[in-house]
Formats: sequence, C-alpha cells, structure tokens
Amino acid sequence: MRIIEVESYEKMSALAADIIAAQVLLKPDCLLGLATGSSPLGTYDGLHAKCQAGTLDFSQVRTVNLDEYCGLTPDNPQSYRYFMNKNLFSRVNVDLANTHLPDGSAPDMQAECDRYEALVESLGWPDLQLLGIGHNGHIGFNEPAEEFPVRVHTVQLAESTIKANSRLFDRIEDVPTQAVTMGIGAIMKARRVLLIAGADKREIVDRAFRGPVTPAVPASVLQLHRDATVILCQG
Ligand code: GLP
Repeated sequence: MRIIEVESYEKMSALAADIIAAQVLLKPDCLLGLATGSSPLGTYDGLHAKCQAGTLDFSQVRTVNLDEYCGLTPDNPQSYRYFMNKNLFSRVNVDLANTHLPDGSAPDMQAECDRYEALVESLGWPDLQLLGIGHNGHIGFNEPAEEFPVRVHTVQLAESTIKANSRLFDRIEDVPTQAVTMGIGAIMKARRVLLIAGADKREIVDRAFRGPVTPAVPASVLQLHRDATVILCQG
C-alpha cells in the first residue's frame, strides 16, 4: 500500500482526478467504482474540467457506486443517486445507462442486495475503486463490526456516522438510519483502490493503515489489497 501525503485538498483532488483519468485512458470502457461524500467533490470537479477540455472521454466508461441510503428514492436530493447525477454524471459525457447504484427504495432489500452483488460481478468488478473513509474507519457503509461483511448488505448506521452525515440534512432526524452498501469482497476484488482522505481523517488513517488489520476498523483490510493507494491531506 502506498500512502501519499499532499499539502492541500486541491492537490489531493487533482492527483486523484489524474489517476482516474489515466485509468480511463488505459481502458476506455473501464468499470469505475465511485464514492460520495465531501472528499470526492474536488476529484469530480477535476474530471469535469478534463472532459470540458477534451482530454478525457467518459463515453464508454461504466460505473458502480458503493452505497445508498435505504428509504430514499433516486430523485430525492439527499440520495446518493441524486448526488452522483449532480456532481459527476451530468458534467461528463457518461451514458447514464452505464451508471449503477443500489436502489435504496427497493421493496425487498435482500433481493436488491442480491441483484447489486450479481450486477457488480457481471460487470467484472471495478478496475479502480475510489473510496473515502469515515471517522470510525468505515469504507462505503461498512461500519465497524466483528467480521468483514463480504457481500452487498444492508447496515444499521453507527450513531457517529448519522451525526457526521447530518450536516447535509436539515435535521438529524431526517438522516436515514439504514443503508445498503457494497461489501468488503467487491472492494477487495477491485483491481486498484484509491482512497482519499482530508486532513480531518489523519488520525483514522493512522489507525487503519499503520495499525492492525481488524473489522473494528474496516478500512484496515486495504493493507491486504494488492494495489491500494491512499492520498492524505496534510492540512
Ligand atoms: C459516507 C459515505 C462514505 C464516505 C464517508 C466519508 O458515510 N457512505 O462512502 O467515504 O461517509 O465522507 P466524507 O468524505 O464526506 O467525509
């Protein structure tokens, strides 16, 4: 695993966008695993700028997102589908039909988990998986647990996650308490993993990548990944 420290959010975002752009150049129809949250916003701005400049072409790219809140329809402004449409998909020349997220409003969540697992497998697992990290070490919505959850599953969100994510909602009561997430299996099967972490994540990055591998800190499993890069902001 490589840990690259950069000075600023802007440098982190520019480097992450360059790495993703290089992946798309190498394999124009690659499968990108994508993430939500504040961390990738600058990266998505960078991808948008490259497409605008004509140096990046998303026309054949396929995408799978890590996770989605349960109970929100795709047109809900708080849903991750809405986030992705707004912050990336509408700003690059990707074919929306090639973009995939779990459906948090599916009537049968177990069937939805099985569908999404089969979908990601049928697409051949991500060529590159972009990740953020929660303050408790979660990746996607894989919260600290006694075992690493392998498959797509629904999860009860940790209090700290609900609190952290409430900044994006009017009231904390509006934050969904459950989510559906890709498991650790799909993340580990990605051919490359790129985790981006702001300066506020320094402590958890240390615990996850310089401490023991344990499901109590889900991101720590990436120490065992064959090609994982972490970009950490210094300030
Ligand atoms: C959310 C998402 C994660 C994300 C994490 C960190 O809960 N499910 O995929 O990586 O929180 O978010 P942020 O980048 O906003 O700190």
